[in-house]
Amino acid sequence: MLVPIITAMHVVTVLLWIGGVSFVTIIIFPMLVRMGDSLEKVLMFQSVENVFVRLARYYVVVVGITGFLLLYLTDQFSKLFTMQTLGITFMLIVWGLYSFILLFERKIFAKVFADNKKYDPDKIMVLLSRAHWFILALSLTAVFMGVLVNHSKNF
Ligand code: HEM
Repeated sequence: MLVPIITAMHVVTVLLWIGGVSFVTIIIFPMLVRMGDSLEKVLMFQSVENVFVRLARYYVVVVGITGFLLLYLTDQFSKLFTMQTLGITFMLIVWGLYSFILLFERKIFAKVFADNKKYDPDKIMVLLSRAHWFILALSLTAVFMGVLVNHSKNF
């Protein structure tokens, strides 16, 4: 019963986390891109992203702990990076990428917004929107592959 409970905790946390990424990417970004005032746009983006990043740090930790626990309890460490665990490999790539971004988030945004005169805020928003779409697509692929590979074992 322990493995199903931890899997459920893992998936619920993934839902909160990737659900947040979807909300920012699909709802917030198109709204920001349509907004007229460039400064207002940047400030709004920063306040939304600040709240999300604070929550995402907890999600990454919980998903990491439950994910590695599942690997240990289902005895799959030795099978990592093989076709049998393709879904988990995708999960690890996505998790590593998010961990890196969240760890260096301040430095990344400081660089992106460093010189408002040099960089056009509208172009920055389009660039950030594309980066969010990329990371969302990767995350959904991890969910898709995780479920597909895990449930293919039964058929
Ligand atoms: C350190 C990172 C992670 C590790 C070690 C990990 C590991 C695992 C393991 C071992 C399972 C059970 C699969 C099985 O029994 O074969 C699982 C399930 C799952 N994981 Fe992850 N995971 C991680 C991150 C993620 C991320 C980032 C996502 C989504 C973006 C994700 C989505 C899922 C889903 C949807 C399932 C349920 C699959 C199912 O049973 O239908 N995981 N994970």
